[in-house]
Amino acid sequence: MDKTAARQRIDELREELNHHNFKYYVENQPEISDQEFDHKMRELADLEAEYPEFADPDSPTMRVGSDLTQEFEQVQHKYPMLSLSNTYSEQELRDFHNRIVRQVGENFRYVAELKYDGTSISLTYVNGQLQRAVTRGDGTVGDDVTRNVRTIRSVPLKLKGNFLPEFEIRGEIFLPIEGFKRLNREKEKAGEPPFANPRNAAAGSLKLQNSSLVAKRPLDCFLYYLLAEELPTDSHYENLMLAKSWGLKISPYMEICHSIDDVLKFVRRWETDRKDLPFEIDGAVIKVDSISLQRQLGFTAKSPRWAIAYKFKAEEARTRLLSVDFQVGRTGAVTPVANLEPVRLAGTTVKRASLHNADIISGLGLHINDLVTVEKGGEIIPKITGVVLEERPSNSRPIEFIKNCPECGAPLMRLEGEAAHYCPNSASCPPQIKGKLEHFISRGAMNIDGLGSETINLLFNHGLVKTIPDLYRLETSQLVNLERLGEKSARNIINSIKKSIEVPWPRVLYALGIRFVGETVAKKLAAAFPSIDKLATATKEELTAVDEIGEKIAQSIIAFFKSEANRKMIEELKQYGLKLEGKEENNLESRKLAGKSIVISGTFTKFSRDELKQMIERHGGKNTGSVTGKTDYLIAGENMGPAKLEKAKKHGVTILNEDQFLSLINS
Ligand code: IVH
Repeated sequence: MDKTAARQRIDELREELNHHNFKYYVENQPEISDQEFDHKMRELADLEAEYPEFADPDSPTMRVGSDLTQEFEQVQHKYPMLSLSNTYSEQELRDFHNRIVRQVGENFRYVAELKYDGTSISLTYVNGQLQRAVTRGDGTVGDDVTRNVRTIRSVPLKLKGNFLPEFEIRGEIFLPIEGFKRLNREKEKAGEPPFANPRNAAAGSLKLQNSSLVAKRPLDCFLYYLLAEELPTDSHYENLMLAKSWGLKISPYMEICHSIDDVLKFVRRWETDRKDLPFEIDGAVIKVDSISLQRQLGFTAKSPRWAIAYKFKAEEARTRLLSVDFQVGRTGAVTPVANLEPVRLAGTTVKRASLHNADIISGLGLHINDLVTVEKGGEIIPKITGVVLEERPSNSRPIEFIKNCPECGAPLMRLEGEAAHYCPNSASCPPQIKGKLEHFISRGAMNIDGLGSETINLLFNHGLVKTIPDLYRLETSQLVNLERLGEKSARNIINSIKKSIEVPWPRVLYALGIRFVGETVAKKLAAAFPSIDKLATATKEELTAVDEIGEKIAQSIIAFFKSEANRKMIEELKQYGLKLEGKEENNLESRKLAGKSIVISGTFTKFSRDELKQMIERHGGKNTGSVTGKTDYLIAGENMGPAKLEKAKKHGVTILNEDQFLSLINS
């Protein structure tokens, strides 16, 4: 293919893929299979790799984010981001309506919308391109999270149709329920605390520093508020319909209401139907449709007078607490779980509820046999919210938190400042061993094909594996006689175990299952400590000097290497040839830029921006996206934005041109 043909094909593929992204993520009406989509994406990625001169940050291939850590720039909102006044009662909705009628008469309509339970975002489009995405912040100033938002497939990077040349559109970014459950399963596997609800998960995701991690989270959005110097029509509803025709994701659950009774019907219907939605809502939002009437009604200091949020009451039920089980996880944390008399709540039958830890139990003053109130915390995980003390039965008795591990009998420990109890017997407590083995073989860790939790259970119950190194001692002959395993799968398992010794050091470190060391932390640690021996002897100060490693993680690492059993395990793994060291650090040409945070801006004559970035990293520095008080150098090229330069001067950042940067690293 010659260059012209390549350019043409690239354009064609980009257009097609943008269209299919829109069909899939915005309209939920895919026209092609995932496989066809992936095929086109691969073809585009290959062509872009072959012809880097046609790179475009808005290409559909760029939705994967970047590994660069970023510090968020604070941006002032052009129009302040206000909140809504809330009500929980129908009477107050009627009062709201009567107030409006008094001010503007009877001749108007409402738009009733759902109140999406996520985190609000303001998107700015200029000439049809996404220019900026900013969080609410304090309403006046928010964080620029553009890089993260660009990874959300339902946010178009380029608009279509007859869009306004410049506008802002606000909406909610949220994590659908299925995605939330998946994310929490992954977190649990990594020994990290799960998110309490989808809202926290969405807000936390937007603030991640590594946008390639954001790209892996199935975030979605609904946009509900168009702002511009001049709006296209006088109707909020019509404006949103126009925005929809530009490719923006507008909720299909909006309705025009001609009377307050219509509004009440809408909120009553969704109060029950919300359980069937694939995402969470915490109420409805009622807005006066006419923009000129909205202007007439105006704002209070905090919220518009033309809109109100009607919040649903959390669904609650009463039932009896029958008993409490204590579960031991892979990291040894002991979680009390309540067994309840089954009760219907928000469309499902609730039988169990997590009690989290001993403090929660004593805070509630819970007794066995108590009548308790249960709510669906964040609508998903049921939680006990209170005790009906007036009805405490005579056979009630206080819950005693166990003193010994229910699985292995070891006395439990509680670390200072931590709410959870732990079983310290990590070397021989069965659920901890099995959990650790399951984590070790899992996809993001050693990715050992053919082994799953069932086989691990089988191997453990037959006494074949008790520690991670035991996996590397297994032989095909030991597996063939186990139930459900034939000769072929036995051989496959052994081969995959053998192959796993090629897994690189950061993933092996993650696979070891050190508490609080998830995938990202493992990568950071592996980059800072090129071998397990260096990591094992690192002091708390050396550990916390690494980006994103705090006291809690440092302490957990030190405790891990203090254990005799863990040290023995590592020696054995070394003998089996696992990669317990990596070469990253050795690739460094120098450490002249170690600890330095450097921003690149503008265009250059000798090097591309990417080459400059690589040079920064080869000399131990960190390339960041925006100038902040923590920036050490700004490498300034041509056509650099005056605002950035101004900011650099304000923070006293050293400004270098290309040649000055070269002499800095060659000095
Ligand atoms: S309109 C000036 N519409 O609720 C009014 N907000 O407390 C702008 N929210 O911060 C907000 N769904 O994050 C609006 N359909 C909807 C909404 C909605 C959720 C959130 C939003 C806002 C908060 C108000």
